[in-house]
Amino acid sequence: MRIVDHIVSKRDGLEMSAEEIRELIQAFTAGTIPDYQMSAWLMAVYFRGMTDRETAALTMAMAQSGETVDLGSIPGIKVDKHSTGGVADTTTLVLAPLVAAAGVPVAKMSGRGLGFTGGTIDKLESIPGFRATLSREEFLRNLRRLRLAITGQTADIAPADGKMYALRDVTGTIESIPLIASSIMSKKIAAGADKIVLDVKVGSGAFMKKQEDAVKLAETMVRIGELVGRETMAVITSMSQPLGWAVGNSLEVEEALDILEGKAGSPELKEVCLVLGAHMLVLAGKAPDTKAARRLLVDALESKRALAKFAEMIAAQGGNPEVIANRALFPRAAFQQPVYLEQEGTIQAIDTARIGYSAMLLGAGREYKGQDIDLGAGLDIRCRVGDRVGPGTPVAVLSANDAAKLEPAAAQIKQAIGLGDRIAAKPPLVLGTVSKNGIEMYI
Ligand code: URA
Ligand code: CA
Repeated sequence: MRIVDHIVSKRDGLEMSAEEIRELIQAFTAGTIPDYQMSAWLMAVYFRGMTDRETAALTMAMAQSGETVDLGSIPGIKVDKHSTGGVADTTTLVLAPLVAAAGVPVAKMSGRGLGFTGGTIDKLESIPGFRATLSREEFLRNLRRLRLAITGQTADIAPADGKMYALRDVTGTIESIPLIASSIMSKKIAAGADKIVLDVKVGSGAFMKKQEDAVKLAETMVRIGELVGRETMAVITSMSQPLGWAVGNSLEVEEALDILEGKAGSPELKEVCLVLGAHMLVLAGKAPDTKAARRLLVDALESKRALAKFAEMIAAQGGNPEVIANRALFPRAAFQQPVYLEQEGTIQAIDTARIGYSAMLLGAGREYKGQDIDLGAGLDIRCRVGDRVGPGTPVAVLSANDAAKLEPAAAQIKQAIGLGDRIAAKPPLVLGTVSKNGIEMYI
């Protein structure tokens, strides 16, 4: 079949066979389909959508476009977690050692940050000496020994996704549920997970701005998991305000340590970790229900076993675990500046993506792929929707190594915070779940 026939059939809303989809993805990965034809096909998918069978076939074709990790030699059920991306989403840094400390292996391949969202690998690299690029052998060895390893996603994992994402990014075809779902699921499947817990974010700092879209994305990924034999469930969580207090690489690692030490950190961040972790333990067969699972997690947290697990991972990956006791070892920014609002009022809403953008302007994030970032830069955001603030209370504290970056970032923060006089309710944090048992919304 000629490529143009695939484009035409998708354009006309016909269902493609798994074989046709595989052929298309293989040819694109091999470089025999020009970008303009793949772009046309992606746009046809954007408008026409895909059936569940097509989306599952696309996912598997992408997962098999490169190398796949075999975690079969690691004892236990391997449950991966993936967040669709947000601001101050430091979840992995708390959750991975927490779940490992509770007895379930965590084999994580993570990415770097882009745009207003941060990446786990960048954050970990703010730990002096930490190596986030492990060889396959080292990854498996550490996993076997510690039940925990985090490495950067290499180019040989789902290369079709990398190529497609780059095209989608410049052709207006990012915001397509089957394309997002297959992109995420293909990487998880290639990375070897037996089961998958998804944190699907919704709100002003997420891909999905509306709850119904988040649920639709979650349902699509759960069904893909079912069709390809990797049980998947999703928790829908709020990104209508930053999840943690810290936005920025070393700042986020420090907040994760604060939570693991039980002394500080965002209660919302801690709660999302306990909720996601409980579902991971249940899927792994470690606990009969989320209530029992939560008790195991709280015990791992309060006994400091989760903190000790993080320290073990740091040491195993070449990092200096003394950063835990001596935070001055983290890269720090030279300039700190509090941000004050001119008026008094109650915070009605926060444009969370803009908070992430502000951190990017301070040097903590990337505007384009491959850009250098400043590991010590970022901000602390201490206000929440519903808080009463005035000219005397700082809503954020900025950190930068270039003083000229402070003002533009402060302007973004001020713009991101919507004040009013009405009482504003705290937005609910965990909105519901989507699993093979159906959709359960709490609100
Ligand atoms: N995250 C991904 O990995 N892929 C998408 O397409 C969107 C978000
Ligand atoms: Ca992330």
